[in-house]
Amino acid sequence: MRALTTTKDGSVELTHVPEPDRTSSELLVQVSASTASRGDLHSIRFSPPGRIVGLDVVGVVTEEAADGTGPAAGTRVMGYTSTRGGGWAERAALDSSLVVPIPDTLSDEMAAALPNSGLAALAGLEAGGFLLGARVLVTGATGGVGRLAVQLAHLAGAHVTGLISSPERREQLHTFDWLSTVTTDDETGGSFDLIVDLVGGEVLSRAMSLVAENGVVASLAQTAPETASVPFFWFAMHRGARLVSVNNTDGQHEAGRGVQRLELLAHLAESGRLDPQVTGAASWEEAPRLLAALSRRELDGRMVVRIP
Ligand SMILES: NC(=O)c1ccc[n+]([C@@H]2O[C@H](COP(=O)([O-])OP(=O)(O)OC[C@H]3O[C@@H](n4cnc5c(N)ncnc54)[C@H](OP(=O)(O)O)[C@@H]3O)[C@@H](O)[C@H]2O)c1
Repeated sequence: MRALTTTKDGSVELTHVPEPDRTSSELLVQVSASTASRGDLHSIRFSPPGRIVGLDVVGVVTEEAADGTGPAAGTRVMGYTSTRGGGWAERAALDSSLVVPIPDTLSDEMAAALPNSGLAALAGLEAGGFLLGARVLVTGATGGVGRLAVQLAHLAGAHVTGLISSPERREQLHTFDWLSTVTTDDETGGSFDLIVDLVGGEVLSRAMSLVAENGVVASLAQTAPETASVPFFWFAMHRGARLVSVNNTDGQHEAGRGVQRLELLAHLAESGRLDPQVTGAASWEEAPRLLAALSRRELDGRMVVRIP
């Protein structure tokens, strides 16, 4: 089959690769759409040449899982490949714990933008526990994960603030009229029960100073290149606060959690309450250009990659 695989010079190229290997709980999907996300940039940077990237998968099941779990052949589905990737290919193997049918009215593009980013946003918010009335700060709020995290926190009844990189970026979030935004240079004038950090580095270091007593800082990302440092006397100034690491794969295989969450994301998007803000879709031949634009931080919203 054909797939986009990593090259030595830090990009991707169309090549011929063997059909995916599958475990007994994995089904085979004929892929029609995936996404270009920052996670793909990380995969390309840290993988040897020849690896298939792509974390999100939308398509039709062509072969069911051998153990009988998951959607039947012929079902239109969306799923998350987990960190091993494999979505930028004609066919992808998906574990049945991370794949769900797509409602008829949800487009391929919308569905493709949900699995990886939506599971990450939900996992980050879950770190804060009960969110009704909580004060939540999301850093990297203009990103694909950030846009879903602010909306999901709002739906959960939190007072949500999005941290953006510059005042010019506010426009990208204009449809969320309930959202307060701040930049790293602003005085926020408050503290937060939960901080979902999608940037890392200096942004995380500064955000840690904004956590309330007994609050939680959920670290999900290393988007910025530099290493974060813990603010001076953080433990004494922010009593009971916790810094926790969060991955969207954590616990998703247990007791149907991954499936429940993917179903929730699909339902919220189908009913118009969650918008992954897909701003364009491009053929997979344009993937190198998309990746370059993503690394230069030129994209506004999530880009979908169409697999022919
Ligand atoms: N832990 C997990 O399970 C998990 C799962 C999914 C994703 N992630 C990680 O989450 C992060 C966000 O993913 P994404 O797909 O939302 O990425 P994205 O769409 O590229 O968004 C990145 C966000 O970070 C901001 N940003 C980038 N570099 C920055 C810097 N140096 N200083 C301040 N802000 C900066 C961007 O602001 P601009 O508007 O200025 O560009 C944008 O808001 C990535 O690092 C990704 O790997 C983690």
